[in-house]
Amino acid sequence: MNTYKIAVIPGDGIGNEVVPKALEVLKQAAELNGTFQLECTTFPWSCDYYMEHGKMMPDDGLEQLKKFDAIFLGAVGDPARVPDHVSLWGLLLKIRRQFKQQLNVRPAKYLKGLESPLKNPKGFDLVIVRENSEGEYSEVGGRIYQGEDEIAIQNNVFSRKASERAMHYAFQLAEKRKNYVTSATKSNGIVYSMPFWDEIFKSVSEKYNIKTDSFHIDALSAYFITKPEMFDVVVASNLFGDILSDIGAAIMGSIGIAPAANIHLDGEYPSMFEPVHGSAPDIAGKGIANPIGQIWTGKMMLDHLGEKNAADNIMSAIEQTIANGIKTPDLSGSASTKEVTEAIISYLK
Ligand code: NAI
Ligand code: MG
Repeated sequence: MNTYKIAVIPGDGIGNEVVPKALEVLKQAAELNGTFQLECTTFPWSCDYYMEHGKMMPDDGLEQLKKFDAIFLGAVGDPARVPDHVSLWGLLLKIRRQFKQQLNVRPAKYLKGLESPLKNPKGFDLVIVRENSEGEYSEVGGRIYQGEDEIAIQNNVFSRKASERAMHYAFQLAEKRKNYVTSATKSNGIVYSMPFWDEIFKSVSEKYNIKTDSFHIDALSAYFITKPEMFDVVVASNLFGDILSDIGAAIMGSIGIAPAANIHLDGEYPSMFEPVHGSAPDIAGKGIANPIGQIWTGKMMLDHLGEKNAADNIMSAIEQTIANGIKTPDLSGSASTKEVTEAIISYLK
């Protein structure tokens, strides 16, 4: 029996409602599978914790988290009491940075029974692998002069190492999926970093027996709207991946179902799994938060831990629940967080 040690941080707002529900689903999936178990330790780090201790987590917080196999996080933020830059930088972004979570991975899938804003969504099922440590979001640059003469320079930083790392991950993921990797580029306009990215993509692709394409980001963004069903795994730099991820979540129909993973690759630190949505203060405490984003995030965590069977079972239970119209109000349904969770658990069985 494999035992995985999971650090659970429900955080704020609806994080406290959807995380316990997702754990119920994960534990049920593990039990049905019978070959692994999750040993969960919950940490109360949040804005409540901040109000009491003046910090989002203890000084040795990262040290405590380091020994876990994965981190399962809800959402952080309670802007009425703690400014967002304090709460996010004091917990979430600290973990992402210090634990070198270099990739952000976000799937987008058409789920039958969901209202996609696309008029005629065909069954798209894609994953965006975003390089998340450098690229366009670098801190290299500066501003000089003032007034009319003022100049701002923002440098893009592309390293062979980080680009290769993201691409290898994308190819290995595609091997387990539909054997197709698309690279997001813009080498017709960005003349140093993007040709470099393209060269690396070409050399990495030669190590795999996988179909590839490379599209400029403008056209690629348009294809996400007009024919998203053509994609499998899409690998992109930090900025391009950021934009594509949001389009992916948008065409699915609700932020309440979108999952994400922050992946660390060198085995030194745990990866962190958290849904795309925030703490949703507007609906917190009402029992109507959609738990699917958190549950699907848990599914990604099981995939990452190598428990593909249990992960696939969770996905199909989510799909059956939505297809049968058991949906929270954000999906135009009338079910509660609890009812959606119970339905997912019953479809697991
Ligand atoms: P949000 O994602 O919390 O909410 C945006 C809208 O989507 C709201 O109307 C909310 O009710 C709805 N929504 C979100 N998740 C839902 C769910 N599971 N079920 C049903 N409806 C859902 O974003 P917002 O309002 O901009 O931010 C609120 C707080 O969350 C802020 O403090 C923000 O900084 C924080 N935040 C934290 C994130 C994280 O922890 N990764 C990500 C995004 C925001
Ligand atoms: Mg974004």
